[in-house]
Amino acid sequence: MEDATESPAIHPAIAPLSYLLGTWRGRGEGGFPTINSFSYAEQLHFSHSGKPFIAYTQKTWKSNSGEPMHAESGFWRPKPDGTIEVVISQSTGLVEVQKGTYSAEEKVIKLQSELVGNASKVREITRVFKLVDEELFYEVQMATNLTSLQPHLKASLQRI
Ligand code: HEM
Repeated sequence: MEDATESPAIHPAIAPLSYLLGTWRGRGEGGFPTINSFSYAEQLHFSHSGKPFIAYTQKTWKSNSGEPMHAESGFWRPKPDGTIEVVISQSTGLVEVQKGTYSAEEKVIKLQSELVGNASKVREITRVFKLVDEELFYEVQMATNLTSLQPHLKASLQRI
């Protein structure tokens, strides 16, 4: 039987974000007022099945030793009106429901947590992704029970 999952057509709902599809690799820097800053290597993978969502996986590792760090995965659900809903589950057990907007022209996606679940410290998370000259940049900010919204991660990735 023919495999219907092979090279499916892109669903119109995800077409505005099709520039994300594929595998990206790069480096990031992390910090927060309450921790020591750190650097990391990262790979992101965005794929689709022909349905109106993009599947997302992320893994990170220590640049010098290759030792695994944080990982997460989820689903990105853009809507025709320019809004987007993203669900993410993290390797730490934390789950996020993110809501926001995207601009297909400016290639910017802005997300704000609507729900952060199963978290001991985290109260709020924002994520901004931006494509500039074929390079994917993102910034993650978080608020904890002790600290207001501040940057935690900043990274840039190239398509591989
Ligand atoms: C620390 C949350 C992503 C590496 C922390 C802390 C929180 C946190 C709550 C503790 C802060 C404190 O004690 O005040 C998150 C959230 C993330 C995220 C919500 C995603 C949205 C990542 C990623 C990495 C990472 C991708 C690695 C690439 C670290 C490290 C620490 C830390 C190394 C310091 C640990 C320590 O010194 O004890 N993170 N994190 N985090 N995070 Fe993240």
